[in-house]
Amino acid sequence: MLPDFLKDFLLLEAQKQPLKHLKPAHEQLSLNYRDQSGQSGVRLNTQADRQVYRLSRLPAIYAVIEALAKELQAQLPDFAPTSLLDLGAGPGTVSLALAQHFASLEQIFLCERDREQVRWGQQLFAESGNPLLAAARWEIADLLSLQRWPQADLHCLSYVLNELDPSSQTQLLGKMYQQPFQVLLLVEPGTPLGYKHILAARQLALESGLQLVGPCPHAQACPLQAGDWCHFGTRVARTQVQRYLKDGFESYEDEKFAWLAVSKTPLLQTPAARVLRRPVYRKGVVDLTLCQSDGSWKTSSIARSHALYKKARKVDWGGSLS
Ligand SMILES: C[S@@+](CC[C@H](N)C(=O)[O-])C[C@H]1O[C@@H](n2cnc3c(N)ncnc32)[C@H](O)[C@@H]1O
Repeated sequence: MLPDFLKDFLLLEAQKQPLKHLKPAHEQLSLNYRDQSGQSGVRLNTQADRQVYRLSRLPAIYAVIEALAKELQAQLPDFAPTSLLDLGAGPGTVSLALAQHFASLEQIFLCERDREQVRWGQQLFAESGNPLLAAARWEIADLLSLQRWPQADLHCLSYVLNELDPSSQTQLLGKMYQQPFQVLLLVEPGTPLGYKHILAARQLALESGLQLVGPCPHAQACPLQAGDWCHFGTRVARTQVQRYLKDGFESYEDEKFAWLAVSKTPLLQTPAARVLRRPVYRKGVVDLTLCQSDGSWKTSSIARSHALYKKARKVDWGGSLS
């Protein structure tokens, strides 16, 4: 859930100009996210683009990062990062969410090339009333030519790969994988293209000798069939502004995402399975579509008599079973 200081800041942002002036930029941004050609990227060129991003995408991605932080903690209960490196930080979405989640954090570094996003983020962080955010160190730089990488336990690259061409993705990931970190988290839109980028990043991570934390419970080839793609969703309450920009009346939406977390050190325990679809509940039975540790996937109907039934009732789309 967005903290109050962020809600207040976004309300001020929404008052900067009549919202109807932002509708064309919102439509273009949505089209770019839906485009699966890999050609459009999601570049924010104008003030209106950036404003739309903060009002519409930031709250949704914040919820995704919150969901992933919970998942990381469930899977790595001893992981208590003291430092975070937020790469391609935009307005600071990842840092905002993780600062709320990981009480262990003492230092945040952000790297972003868009000066205007950095200026906005710095002001927000300074006024947040949160000493960790207020002391965060921002660097305006291009990730592809970054010379000195701040050292941090947790590295994140959220919704950035889809702005890079394939060779720049490989170049950046190659550099990132060489850095010292405990956990590295990649997040992309939950589209076929986002999945494709995550799959390539996964392959490179395995070739670089990294350990998979998630979502895959195995290091074999992805078992999903052509036309299917691994993605998850988290329910996000829509603000009034989001409803207006989207012409939507629903009070919530499902934000879809794809992700990959890798580690430099072997995990004590990998999950037995990952839930790939929203569970279907029937009388005394839960249907779970699972990616399994043997590298296969299947839909299992788990009945009340089954030892896993209680867990199956509780686990959600994207959760893990161990
Ligand atoms: C879609 S936004 C994501 C922002 C933030 N990580 C989030 O999840 O909300 C992508 C950001 O990556 C930044 N970016 C893309 N390529 C970059 C590069 N080569 N160097 C630095 N920043 C880059 C863009 O300027 C933009 O702010």
